[in-house]
Amino acid sequence: MATAIKRDYSLTGKTNEKAIALDDDYLEDRVEATWWHPVLPRETLKALMQRSDSIGLWRFGLWIVLLVGSGYIAVLSWGTWWAIPAFLIYGTIYSSSDAAWHECGHGTAFKSRWLNDLFYHISSFMTLREAYLWRWSHSRHHTHTYLVTLDPEIQVQRPADLLKILMDFFYLRSGPPEVWRIIRHAAGKPNADVLSFMPEDELWKMYWSSRVYVAIVGGFAVWSIAIGSFLPMMFVALPRFYGGWLHQLLGLTQHAGLAENVYDHRENTRTVYINPIFRFLYMNMNYHIEHHSTPMIPYHALPKYHEAIKDQTPTAYPSLWACYKEMIPALIKQTTDPDYRIIRDIPKTPAAPVIPTAVADQRVAAKTSENAVAQWVEVCAVDALPEQDVIGFNHNGKDYAVYRLAGNDFYASDGICTHEKENLAGGLIVNGCIECPRHNGRFDVTTGKAVKTPARKPLTMYPIERREDRLFIFVP
Ligand code: FES
Repeated sequence: MATAIKRDYSLTGKTNEKAIALDDDYLEDRVEATWWHPVLPRETLKALMQRSDSIGLWRFGLWIVLLVGSGYIAVLSWGTWWAIPAFLIYGTIYSSSDAAWHECGHGTAFKSRWLNDLFYHISSFMTLREAYLWRWSHSRHHTHTYLVTLDPEIQVQRPADLLKILMDFFYLRSGPPEVWRIIRHAAGKPNADVLSFMPEDELWKMYWSSRVYVAIVGGFAVWSIAIGSFLPMMFVALPRFYGGWLHQLLGLTQHAGLAENVYDHRENTRTVYINPIFRFLYMNMNYHIEHHSTPMIPYHALPKYHEAIKDQTPTAYPSLWACYKEMIPALIKQTTDPDYRIIRDIPKTPAAPVIPTAVADQRVAAKTSENAVAQWVEVCAVDALPEQDVIGFNHNGKDYAVYRLAGNDFYASDGICTHEKENLAGGLIVNGCIECPRHNGRFDVTTGKAVKTPARKPLTMYPIERREDRLFIFVP
C-alpha cells in the first residue's frame, strides 16, 4: 500500500509563503468579506450577543462547587479502589476548564471584563494552555480556520494518525509537547511558529506567565516528593491527562474529517446535539458552526442562535454516536488519502453578501448635505442610531463607524478594525467600547484606544455633530 505524503502544517514551513507574509497587509480582502456569514437581522443578532455576569457567575459557581465536591470525595477515597472513579470524575470536571479557557478568552463568559480575565487565567493554567500564547493562537484559528499553514490549531493533521488521536483521550500526544513548550517559554525560548503570530512586545508576558505555571506545578511536584505520595499532583496538571477523555471526545467533533482550505464554516465545522451534562461542561461548544460564524455570541445564547440560523446550515448531527459513525470511517480513510473529506449538505441560501447582512443593514451611504459646510458629511437621522449601538457609514469607498452611547453622546471612528480588517459595524457596544465581531478585540469609542487584545493599534477618531435631527461627521 502506498504511503500517504505527510502534509506540512507548520506556520513557517517552505510551503508556507502566505503565513510568512502574514501581517496587517496580508489580508487583501476584509475578513468579514471572505468567510460565509449567516443572514440575520441586526436587531436579532444584537439581542443574542448580550453577555451577562449573573448567568456566568451561576455557571462558574456551580462548576467550582462540582470541582471542589468531587475533589473532596477523591481525597477521601485515596488508597481505595473508589479512588479510580472518584478521580475520573474530578479529572473530567477539571479538564472541562478547556471550555472555560475558550469562552473567557473570547470575553463572552461574563459581561465584566475583569471576570472574564480572572477565569481566563485560572482556566488557562488548569488546561495547560499558556494564557498569552493561546490568546494569539486562537485569534489565528478564527481568522484562518482549517487553512493549512495558516491555522495553528488544526487538531487532526493529514494523513490522519489514529494512534495519536486515541492517545489524546489521555492528552498523551498533545500534552507533553505543550508542557515542553511552557518550559521553553519559561526559559524565554519560543520557536519560529510561535514568533509568526505572537507580537514581539507580548512575549515577555508569555515568558512570565509560563514561569508562574512552572513554579506552581513544580511546587506541587516537590510537595508530592516530600510526602512520598502522588496525591498533590493528582489535583494539579495531571487531571488534564487522566481526565482528558471528554475534552477529546467532544473536541474531535469540531472539525475532524471535514474540509480544509475552504472559507465556509459549514464545510469545515460541525454542530452536534449532546446531552445537557456534557453541554454544561463544554459550554455549548457543540454548536460549533454557530460559534465560528459569529464568535461574539456568548455560550448561553448559542442554542437560540442555532434555532435562528439552522435553515442556513447543514443539519446538526442528532447525537455524538451519529457524528462518530460518520467521522471514524472518514478518519480511517484519511490515513491513506489525505484529500478525502466528509462533504456536508449545505442548504441553498441567498448568495452570501460581501458585507454580512447585519452590517449591510446598518451601513448607510454617504450623502453630502446641502447645508453641510465643506468636509462635514451627513451620516443619517439621529433616530437611525439607537442608544448603545453602532452604525456603519461609507464615504468615498472608506468605511467609518458611528457610535451612540446614550442621548447625545455620539462618536465616530474608522470603520475597520486595526487588527485584521473586520467591519466594526457588525460589533457590539460593551461598557463604552466597541467589540470587534471577529476576535472580540475592543476599542474605547470615546478615544479610539485599543483596550483589549488582539486589537492593539488605536482607531482614528473623527469629529461628529448633531444638527437638529441629523448626524454629520468631519471626514478628510
Ligand atoms: S479583526 Fe481581530 S480584533 Fe478585530
